[in-house]
Amino acid sequence: MSKNFWITLFSLGCLGIYLFVSAPPLLLDDKKTEQAAIPVEQMFILLQAENAAARAIWTQEIVGAGKKSGLKFDEHWRDADLEAGPLPALFLRETAKSMEKSPLRLSLFLGSDYPISPSNRFEGLQQEKFQILRQSQLPQFFYVPDTGLQTGMFANIAIAAPCIECHNKHPQAAKNDWRLNDVMGATTWMYPASTVSLEDMLKAIMVLHQGIENAYAAYLEKVKTFTHPPMISERWPRDGYYLPSLDVFMQAFLQRTAQHTLPALGALSNARQNNKLKDSSRDTAK
Ligand code: HEC
Repeated sequence: MSKNFWITLFSLGCLGIYLFVSAPPLLLDDKKTEQAAIPVEQMFILLQAENAAARAIWTQEIVGAGKKSGLKFDEHWRDADLEAGPLPALFLRETAKSMEKSPLRLSLFLGSDYPISPSNRFEGLQQEKFQILRQSQLPQFFYVPDTGLQTGMFANIAIAAPCIECHNKHPQAAKNDWRLNDVMGATTWMYPASTVSLEDMLKAIMVLHQGIENAYAAYLEKVKTFTHPPMISERWPRDGYYLPSLDVFMQAFLQRTAQHTLPALGALSNARQNNKLKDSSRDTAK
């Protein structure tokens, strides 16, 4: 476990303690236990924002700036004879693979109806819901009876020219007329329960953070095998042929996400407290 994992654990732990201490009547009230349950959609929304922040740093700061300063990124980045790192979709897959090792049954998948990789193709109900998402661009939340999993899907949009250039000319592409702003796929989260406790939610965030950290660590391991590896320190590719260390990368990520995650968790806790207050005033009014 790295230092950042413990920093995350510590800050989320503090938040957890704060919420539990500041809201004891709510949490100790058995009758209201059901209210302590948060719809799994809220957890998906939070995880989606976290993962989007990691994807933005990876795509812009490492891949985008890295290419300009001499780093390479490739779908076969794991091959021993290639001195390259993972493309954004593969960084996500790396994160997802690491998350699967946790006992929390949370999974993450980037799918499409016209994928480059056949293993990324949506099937069945996911495929139906993806068509609705494509029309509305709105997230879709649904239950898949076959797998018993609650699912949350979020649009993955062609936000920049390289997305469509690379996909349209890829030899394995199932579609080669993607245009800018098309919904190219959907980031898909799955979890086996329709509600979660605040504690489950904190665990899920930690599992995602650990997945992101492991994905970046795997890249740094690969980089160390390069003939002329870039210096790994506090500098970023925008400064030249450099890469941030694991700590520096995770700090940048945590800085971006803390701004929305901590207030969002606080708001959830407050909303529950307000419900509790409303309920008790109703009780006294009787
Ligand atoms: C340099 C090439 C390249 C660029 C740039 C690129 N992709 Fe991909 N993308 C790929 C490859 C290769 C895969 C398949 C990876 C795998 O094996 O799972 C993929 C996978 C995907 C998938 C999963 C479905 C599929 O096609 O397999 C989505 C969705 C996706 N990319 C969207 C995007 C978006 C949006 C952008 C821009 C922000 C982007 N890609 C940029 C090469 C690229």
